[in-house]
Amino acid sequence: MRIDILTLFPQVFESPLSCSILKRAQDNGLIDIALTDIRDFSTDTYRKVDDKPYGGGPGMVMMPGPVFDCFEHVCKLATEKGRVILLTPQGQKFDQAKARELSGLKRLIFIAGKYEGFDERIRTGLGAEQISIGDYVLSGGELAAMVIIDAVVRLLTGALGDEASAKDDSFSEGLLEYPQYTRPEVFRGMKVPDILLSGDHAKIAEWRRAQALERTKKWRPDLLKENEERKS
Ligand code: ADE
Repeated sequence: MRIDILTLFPQVFESPLSCSILKRAQDNGLIDIALTDIRDFSTDTYRKVDDKPYGGGPGMVMMPGPVFDCFEHVCKLATEKGRVILLTPQGQKFDQAKARELSGLKRLIFIAGKYEGFDERIRTGLGAEQISIGDYVLSGGELAAMVIIDAVVRLLTGALGDEASAKDDSFSEGLLEYPQYTRPEVFRGMKVPDILLSGDHAKIAEWRRAQALERTKKWRPDLLKENEERKS
């Protein structure tokens, strides 16, 4: 998968991209990530990329010129056309199903804006899909892009050490994950459930399924409702 990120703050991505699964995925050639600074496409001597909104109002709006020029440059960096994603709180809310959908694509192009928003012609002119990571406002799209990239890349075959681990994740079957335990068997008086030490794999699978269901009912009943609605 090829991932392009158009941003005013490429340095925000450096640390998360240089650790753990995301680093390994790049080292193994599973993903190829390129950061491009939108400011490099400003035609202004002060490298300006935003301006006051027409009609008045507070804040500054990202100008279309530098974003379009940056986008056109990035498009030429690879042959695949790719899905264009604009990070904004107005977008469709990101979830595991969206992560799965994006993980099946060959190229993703993220546009992260700072400041109060984008000139509307960026969305319409670039045919971009808008995605939000939740109902709150971040100071820019960088962290949102990073969240999406992390969730998508770990779903790629070969990204995780143990392929089974993505399958058992929370949300993978519309349920939260069952409780996990590791050594020691007793920690500060708290014991690992006997069933997990029994060696009876069928019973363990049944217990885990029941636990996952119970936790989802208790902590995220909205997920069960969503599943039912999807099925009907
Ligand atoms: N930019 C600012 N807030 C955002 C959010 N919640 N999701 C995606 N991009 C954003």
